[in-house]
Amino acid sequence: MTAQDFIPASYSKTVESGQFTWESPSNIALVKYWGKKKNQIPENPSISFTLNNCKTITALSFSKKASNKTFEFDVFLDGEKKDSFKSKIETFFERIYSYFPFLKDYYFKIETENTFPHSSGIASSASGMSALALCLMSIEKLLNDGMDEVYFIKKASFLARLGSGSACRSLEGDLVVWGNHSDVVGSSDLFGVKYPGEVHENFKNYQDTILLVDKGEKQVSSTLGHNLMYGHPFAEQRFEQANTNISKIKTILETGNLNEFIALVESEALTLHAMMMTSMPYFILMKPNTLEIINKIWAYRQSTGSKVCFTLDAGANVHVLYPENETTKVLEFIKNELVVYCQNGQYICDQIGFGAIQIN
Ligand code: PMV
Repeated sequence: MTAQDFIPASYSKTVESGQFTWESPSNIALVKYWGKKKNQIPENPSISFTLNNCKTITALSFSKKASNKTFEFDVFLDGEKKDSFKSKIETFFERIYSYFPFLKDYYFKIETENTFPHSSGIASSASGMSALALCLMSIEKLLNDGMDEVYFIKKASFLARLGSGSACRSLEGDLVVWGNHSDVVGSSDLFGVKYPGEVHENFKNYQDTILLVDKGEKQVSSTLGHNLMYGHPFAEQRFEQANTNISKIKTILETGNLNEFIALVESEALTLHAMMMTSMPYFILMKPNTLEIINKIWAYRQSTGSKVCFTLDAGANVHVLYPENETTKVLEFIKNELVVYCQNGQYICDQIGFGAIQIN
């Protein structure tokens, strides 16, 4: 498929007004996306677990307006008008206008809320952009009778990607690949696809407890970080490594080898942060407590034989990943040894989920 395939020819119906609501989860990458080309095309393929509890719920109301010259919309977060979100959404609308020619025909009211706490350091862009893309797709489906489900989900992912790259991995579950890779049938740079390979029982209901180490605003946005991969001295090796890791994780997912899973996932997390530390300008998003937690996890694994491991996003928070059958023990370990490193003792218990759902 090419981007052209997402430009609609014409619509079969007209609609005056309506409302759609979708809830969409966040996701956590196992093989990371860091570095992009023009039009939000990733430099390397990535794979993520879809989360279950960290979600955005977005209601999109729309009504026909008299003029179709500009975008007109308002954004509300938890019932409060949020004009500070408008510029990001205006940019998103500009990017997707050629794929959604109806965007200037309606006034939109976007009402959104997250299930995770505000400014918890958990990025809401993946869940938020995918929920909004799905609401817009529901409108297009109304205008274009007979649109099939496969096209619906592909285009929603394609659009979510234009809002925030990793958002294209939030629509389905439990594992999603984004970025073309010869070992993953159907994979594409344009949208995320549900991982088509075999997945061992060991990875069913995998748990992710997110330790909130630092809830402050990130000092360096991911947009800026991605851009620093241009001219980065290790960029080519990194992109090659990510491609190799996709092949490796395919085997790991099939065989259920948890030791190899741990090695790959932790190496990916540290490589992501190593790229940040070796870019120019360089920066560090981990905090002292991030490292304390990592060391504690290593010591716990060493002394107990547990299969718990960690991964990191572009921030200081730590995602603690473990198989479902270790839940009681690992939660005990987290409470006894890790909570002290969390800001205000806060953490979120999540697990693998199965993607977005329509509410109405
Ligand atoms: O989707 P963005 O542009 O916010 O980039 C996200 C990048 C990482 O979260 C660090 C890695 C990933 O693959 O999700």
